[in-house]
Amino acid sequence: MPEKSAQLKLFFTKKLLEWNQKFNNREMPWKKEKDPYKIWISEIILQQTRVEQGLDYYNRFIKQFPNIKKLAQAKEFTVFKLWEGLGYYSRCKNLISTAKFINEELKGVFPDTYEEILALKGVGPYTAAAIASFAYNLPYAVVDGNVTRVLSRFFSINIPIDTTEGKKIFNDLAQSLLKKGQANLYNQAIMDFGATICKPRLPICSSCLLASNCQSFSNNTTNSYPVKSKRISQKERWLYYLVAEYNDRFYIRKRAQNDIWQNLHEFLVIEMDLPKTTEDLLKSKQFKERIASEFNIISVSKPYQQKLTHQLINGVFIHLKLKNPVVFEDFVLKSKGQIKRIAFPRIIDGYITQQNMFS
Ligand code: ADE
Repeated sequence: MPEKSAQLKLFFTKKLLEWNQKFNNREMPWKKEKDPYKIWISEIILQQTRVEQGLDYYNRFIKQFPNIKKLAQAKEFTVFKLWEGLGYYSRCKNLISTAKFINEELKGVFPDTYEEILALKGVGPYTAAAIASFAYNLPYAVVDGNVTRVLSRFFSINIPIDTTEGKKIFNDLAQSLLKKGQANLYNQAIMDFGATICKPRLPICSSCLLASNCQSFSNNTTNSYPVKSKRISQKERWLYYLVAEYNDRFYIRKRAQNDIWQNLHEFLVIEMDLPKTTEDLLKSKQFKERIASEFNIISVSKPYQQKLTHQLINGVFIHLKLKNPVVFEDFVLKSKGQIKRIAFPRIIDGYITQQNMFS
């Protein structure tokens, strides 16, 4: 860190809080919230979801489960159904098990120390700092991609954020900038500042209260920060869903695999590493192994897409009417009415909601 950092640090915190007080007009239902349960729900939703997308989910969630007890006692499939579309379903699974843990083992009382909050399933250092500071004003600084971007630009830090050394430096710096006694305000301010002013692509430096001392602004290098040591590659996957219908019902199963879609439902599926024509797909060994009955093809959908952090998933839906019933391990026949009530990954839900046959 450069020599002048003590003064710079004071300037940073002072101006950030000033910006927050005078200009931060971002309104969100969990702001000023003091109930740790509601803060926890909002932070879990926001872990991998943008605020605009998370807002409605948060409101519906709190309406249906206004406290820990209600969530702990809910039927799991109702919670999953409410989560549908948000993705990263391990969050939902952890939410349910943590609610049960607090309700049963902690007498329904949400923990009030950083360490105990961090020990909850699904809660990492960022979420623990957010809950501890928002609910109890405990002095723990949040550090995530937003925060490291803001800090690396303002202090022009060239150490890659995705290295052990970088993580320690950013954590220590963030912690030293936190204004004790105002941790709640400070943390919300830096989150909002990163989201609305010091934005990833087009930061609004012209109206930034911190620009006069921002090291990368004065060097015209804001776009070079934060520095990363490696590029994250994105894998492309092709999923061919066989929407196999027999007698007005469809073969569906609940996914057991321990992955992001665990506990959600799906149609029969064939995965390919490259796109295929329908003709090639029908000739493939995987298709012939699955569909042993005669069938008619009713429709082939356009590719639907779902972006995850490290993968781009393409889904093509082939609606088939089978002449005979078949036995597929784990799969059961579900009616259209049943299909409307169960939870699917977003990519399948996108297809279902666009198909008149399910409405
Ligand atoms: N992202 C994560 N937590 C947040 C919060 N409390 N406000 C805005 N964005 C967030």
